[in-house]
Order: sequence, then structure tokens, then C-alpha cells
Amino acid sequence: MKVTVPAIRARKGAGRPIVALTAYDYPTARTLDAAGVDLLLVGDSLGMVVLGHPTTLPVTLEMMLHHTAAVVRAKTAALVVADMPFLSYHVSREETIRNAGRLIQEAGAEAVKIEGGRGRAGVVRALVEADIPVMGHIGLTPQSVHAMGGYKVQGRSPDAVQSLLEDARALEEAGAFSLVLEGIPGEAARLITQSTALPTIGIGAGPHCDGQILVVNDLLGLGGEEVPRFVRRYADLRTAAVEAVRAYAADVTAGRFPAEVESYGAGARGAAAGPSTVPGAAAPGASTPAGSPGPEQGGSGR
Ligand code: KIV
Repeated sequence: MKVTVPAIRARKGAGRPIVALTAYDYPTARTLDAAGVDLLLVGDSLGMVVLGHPTTLPVTLEMMLHHTAAVVRAKTAALVVADMPFLSYHVSREETIRNAGRLIQEAGAEAVKIEGGRGRAGVVRALVEADIPVMGHIGLTPQSVHAMGGYKVQGRSPDAVQSLLEDARALEEAGAFSLVLEGIPGEAARLITQSTALPTIGIGAGPHCDGQILVVNDLLGLGGEEVPRFVRRYADLRTAAVEAVRAYAADVTAGRFPAEVESYGAGARGAAAGPSTVPGAAAPGASTPAGSPGPEQGGSGR
């Protein structure tokens, strides 16, 4: 069943934490949806984990449109939320609505996320009045990396916690439907979660939020060697991919790939299914992944 904005809002205190992950492309969105994730965030973290930039600041609205559209094409049950990148909601209300509107209208996002606390309440209200659902994001806000003096845990003093509580209240009053809490102590997240009617979704914010989100590349072991303390790695796909590609390279180098069964004959239709040279891999011709050419379908055009 399709997850909607009201459905996410209704998860506040419902006793079933919201499961959220980032996604930046079509196959990943399909995979995460098959696993039953509630919410996919096309995060501007794509600038770092997909495009190799040192911060999220170089990410443009055009990049977000491109990646959000790819995720939306996966037609997920999960709600798709697109991050508004740096400078796309800072200049004027009119420009903000137009930019968010493009993420909804052109790319097909169902909501947008913006970083910042009470200083953004006016922007959030303007978007909500334009019927654009908004997810807030407070605590460690990566677009403010220079203002914060680095990626530093926020909300460590009583005054800082008070400030976060005021941010959460202002975003709630402005009409946001949910709130990301990033990089704050678990106790601060617990206080905010208890004090707001918005479902909170934590990343590096401890266990007391109404849901959790991680960068999918970190969870799958596709990120760098070092991951932040709050990440739990559920797989090591980078190592698996390096091993697979090494095996392919060895087969090509030794002339073992392609084998007879992986080659097209001159006239006969349908290749005989044969054993794969790779243990555990699907037999060629026996089945093909969705969108791949069948046995007699030539070319690389997928
Ligand atoms: O861009 C992103 O991936 C995010 C999450 C870390 C919440 O904002």
C-alpha cells in the first residue's frame, strides 16, 4: 500500500517506528521498496556519496531533479521525499516555491525536505500554503557545515537543547509533517520527540525518535572505509563487488569468458541453458533480470 504524507504523520507515537533510507537511483529505490522501507529520501548527500564532492554544497536543483525522477520511476510504495539543495530555498519565497514545485511537478517527489530551524519557519509555511508537504531537518545540518565549523554534534548544552526545542516547535507551527533530527545526543532527541506532535526521524540521534534514517551506501558497505559512529553496516557490498569484478577480469584475461553458452549461435533461436562458470550465478538463458536482453536479444541496450 502506498505510504502517504498523512500516513507518515499518523506514525507519531504509533509504536511502529518509521523506517527510512536515502535513495538516489532507480535500482536502489526498487530494492529498498522490495524490503518494505516506508520513506525514501533523495538526500543531497548524493553530492558526497554518489558524486564524490567533499560536502553537499555543490549539489544543484538540476541534480536533485535528475536523481529524484530516477527514484520516482521505481513507482515505490514508499513515500519519496526530495531534499532541497543549498541556495534553492534561501533567496526568496517565490524562488523557493518554484524550486520545490519543480521537484514535485517535474520529478514527481511527494514532499520536500529543508534544513534549518525557526529561521526557516516562514519558508516552510509558504511551501505548505502552496500544498507542498515539508519535512524539517534540525541539529547537524550539513548545508551549514561552514557556519557550524565542521560536522559537529549539536545540542550538547542545555541552551542548545532549548534552542532545538524552539526550532521543532516553530517548524511544527509552520506546518511541517515530520522532522529529521541529525547528530544530536539521544537525550536531546528524546526531549524533542516528546515535545513535538511531529514524527521525528533520527540519524545519529539515538533510539528515542519515531523513526530512523541512514544513508543507504553506509548501511550496505558501499561508502568509504570510515563511517560515522552512528552507522550500522548490514552488508559489505564493496568487498563483494570488488571480488566479483576481479573474478570477471581473471576470466576475461584467461579467455574463460564468454563461454559457448554465453555466445549467440548463427541461426538457432534460444540458447541452451548451461552451467555458469561462476558458482551461484544464474545460468545464462535460464532467466534474465528484468530489463535485460533475452537469449536472442542482441545489443547492450537495456
Ligand atoms: O541528505 C541526506 O542524506 C540527509 C539525511 C542524512 C537525513 O539529509
